[in-house]
Amino acid sequence: MTPMEAIEARISCRAYADEPLDQGSLNELRAYTEELTRGTDLRFVIVGPAEGGARLKLVKRMFTGKVSTYAALIGPDDNPTREKVGYLGEKLVLKATQMGLGSCWVAGTFDRASVSEPLAAGEVLHDVIPLGHMPAKQPFAQRAIRAGLRKRDRRPEALYQGSVPLAEAPAWIAAGVDAVIKGPSAVNEQPVVFVWEDERLTATLPYGKRNLEYTDLGIAKLHFEIAAEAAGMAGAWNAGAPATFVPRG
Ligand SMILES: Cc1cc2nc3c(=O)[nH]c(=O)nc-3n(C[C@H](O)[C@H](O)[C@H](O)COP(=O)(O)O)c2cc1C
Repeated sequence: MTPMEAIEARISCRAYADEPLDQGSLNELRAYTEELTRGTDLRFVIVGPAEGGARLKLVKRMFTGKVSTYAALIGPDDNPTREKVGYLGEKLVLKATQMGLGSCWVAGTFDRASVSEPLAAGEVLHDVIPLGHMPAKQPFAQRAIRAGLRKRDRRPEALYQGSVPLAEAPAWIAAGVDAVIKGPSAVNEQPVVFVWEDERLTATLPYGKRNLEYTDLGIAKLHFEIAAEAAGMAGAWNAGAPATFVPRG
């Protein structure tokens, strides 16, 4: 599965089969998170499965099944970190998707006291990502939750501003915007707007209000880069918002 196919296949999985991950998958996830956070001040800890029966407690109204393995995304308490958590955490989500596992970004609907990983001074637990086997079919309640949230999907034109309409902008921009809409964002707000002017593309956060949009920004930048590269425009975003897209080579 290519990264682009993982973007297409991923959903926020809110139902988990009660079947622990095998040691090989755990090793693979641990090696990958180590590689992702090397040289940063982030700690992505893969917890579980369930030593002594400890489990991640997710809010029952939203989730079903037992989660015995999850990633705890830990780092300093500032917006540049929140953006990095989004960019690198979404790499982990896409990796899990490629491994055939279910995952879900969770910032709010879980019991923080059920996370046993100790925090150092200056560190906070930003998000958790349950990682597990999915049931063959998501139950009705979980499908209804997702459908309700996805009703808020923005149209591509709402995520774009420019000197020409989106349909007349380079095709890699429309591809990037589509991949951002397919991505996860907190309460599906999709807060990043892309501005194309003077042959320069900028990622902006016009309605910033509660810091989580910086995690959404990191996720959106990753999805955009993957789709733009698949459409023939490899490049990378500068940090922050507004940020410029820098084509490679
Ligand atoms: C930073 C972040 C935090 C999130 N927190 C939660 C959460 O606490 N509970 C939850 O059920 N979903 C959470 N989500 C998942 C979003 O609701 C979901 O990504 C969005 O509705 C789009 O649906 P999809 O991911 O299934 O495509 C979060 C997503 C992100 C990116």
